[in-house]
Amino acid sequence: MTLSKNSEEYIKQIPIYRPTLSGNEKEYIIRCIDSTWISSKGGFTLEFEQKFAEYIGTRYATTVSSGTAALHLALLALGAGPGSEVIVPTLTFVASANAIAYTGATPIFADSLESTWQIDPDDIRRKITPKTCGIIAVHLYGHPCDMDALTAITKEFGIFMIEDCAEAIGSRYKKSHVGNFGEIAAFSFYGNKTITTGEGGIIATNNKTLYDRAVHLKGQGLSPHRQYWHDVIGYNYRMTNLCAAIGLAQLEQVDAFVSKKRQIASWYRNELKDLPLRFHDEIGDVVNSYWMCSVLVSDALLREKLRDYLAGLGIETRPVFYPIHTMPIYSQNYQHHSVAEDISLRGINLPSWPGLTAEDVNFICNSIREFLNKH
Ligand SMILES: Cc1ncc(COP(=O)(O)O)c(C=O)c1O
Repeated sequence: MTLSKNSEEYIKQIPIYRPTLSGNEKEYIIRCIDSTWISSKGGFTLEFEQKFAEYIGTRYATTVSSGTAALHLALLALGAGPGSEVIVPTLTFVASANAIAYTGATPIFADSLESTWQIDPDDIRRKITPKTCGIIAVHLYGHPCDMDALTAITKEFGIFMIEDCAEAIGSRYKKSHVGNFGEIAAFSFYGNKTITTGEGGIIATNNKTLYDRAVHLKGQGLSPHRQYWHDVIGYNYRMTNLCAAIGLAQLEQVDAFVSKKRQIASWYRNELKDLPLRFHDEIGDVVNSYWMCSVLVSDALLREKLRDYLAGLGIETRPVFYPIHTMPIYSQNYQHHSVAEDISLRGINLPSWPGLTAEDVNFICNSIREFLNKH
């Protein structure tokens, strides 16, 4: 039952996200503890890596401690560093740009397409300079980027592409799982991601040399030939066996999670279709895994009022990410990116986790309808 905010009895709380841990997670964790293999060595890490690579269709995958670490290692493996520039969408989570900054390279921001909210290939072309060494294609909120256009650019200019697939487990472009188009792909398994390990990430690639470099760097740059001999300055970016155990149990459920998320998206789309807002729809020959179902309302002020109204009813929402070029840490060479700025001001992420019921979505949509009817 759902009662109003002032009721003393009960308010239905609908969080924006909640992981579903109802598979073999507990059993596999107990196995780690019973075996005492709780650090990064242990069978679950290897099994999770192999099965994840199989699931997305790449040859290699190596686990790391976060999606940010995956991006950092991907950039290092591809040689980004001081003096080089990497083009990244401004409309993304800050980690996509931070990872570039960690290497000493400069993030160069590109605007988004109004249609899909993904990086605008024409704007990438405008931003390419002799210093550009690569681009990061972020499949934002689960909608794939225009991979044909991006691949054409990387081929034409001889630059690399990293796919930031943190939000795109289960997303496909022309039938292929994302992560198969660039040189390296980075995934995140943070608690609100489509599958989670608590904290964690993975690097996936079809290139053995890049895979070897990433493995080398994530384990303190340990020489393969001599114990306790380190031939590069590496990192401790390893994933624990405990996290991998959760990851494996999650991976066993990934198809169910993705199809439920797509069902939730279709509930939202149907229930919101007559309202003055725009649903973040699938465009082109793609499968959007709908990490976050999102809508655009007509203006920024209305967006904040609607979010407050929903919060009062126990419905948690998020604003779409702020464009990174507007944050003082990255605004030294400020240029307007009008599409990203507009989407950011008017966009709302709605509750999107697989445990949501049709009744929950109906309640959320009716609440949005009630609000928009009054404003
Ligand atoms: C687009 C994007 N890139 C990178 C990351 C970083 O992943 P993590 O939080 O696992 O470091 C996230 C998410 O959190 C993300 O949404």
